[in-house]
Amino acid sequence: RKRAVVFISGGGSNMMALVAAAKAADYPAEIVGVIADKADAGGLAKAAAEGIPSFAFVRKDYASKEAHEEAIFAALDRLSPDILCLAGYMRLLSGVFIQRYEGRMINIHPSLLPLFPGLHTHQRAIDAGMRIAGCTVHFVTEGMDEGPVIGQAAVPILSGDSAESLAARVLTVEHQLYPQALRLLAESKVKMEGGKAVSTDAAAAPAER
Ligand code: GAR
Repeated sequence: RKRAVVFISGGGSNMMALVAAAKAADYPAEIVGVIADKADAGGLAKAAAEGIPSFAFVRKDYASKEAHEEAIFAALDRLSPDILCLAGYMRLLSGVFIQRYEGRMINIHPSLLPLFPGLHTHQRAIDAGMRIAGCTVHFVTEGMDEGPVIGQAAVPILSGDSAESLAARVLTVEHQLYPQALRLLAESKVKMEGGKAVSTDAAAAPAER
């Protein structure tokens, strides 16, 4: 099984969806660690209760972004992950960090990228008059929320939706999509190549024409 470390900043419901999926004997990845950038991230206690080594690295405890990331690298060297999963990790990683894990680091974003990267995605989708919303799992590259897309899931936007009600609906499909996307990467059925997500799964590839 591939070793995955999950990065969180908050409640960690996506992290817990990955943990739950990894309990299945045939799941190709195990969650070997959780790293947060907030000491009070709710997900830390949930991970610890599952017996998963979990660590907080608080940015203000370090003199620089480089020093903060060096501390995270040291923890990662001990966990020796094959794959990093960003799951509501609300901090931009440096180019050095991203290059170190290029092709092995994925993120979930609560919009149908390339629409609505960045913050306040749900309100922006509502304000734009969209009738659907959704989530995206993508390889992490240096452009924020720009990396090649591995998978997406869509939900309707209903009249009367608030950012909160839409976020809750999107979150339910995030919890389904993220374990599916991690499975594809852990089984080497998708890889990043030439700046694109390439399916190496003959069954999933579009028919030749
Ligand atoms: C999720 O909706 C995730 O897609 C989003 O934060 C939430 C984290 O919830 N991520 C981003 O907005 C990244 N830009 P969780 O901690 O319960 O998984």
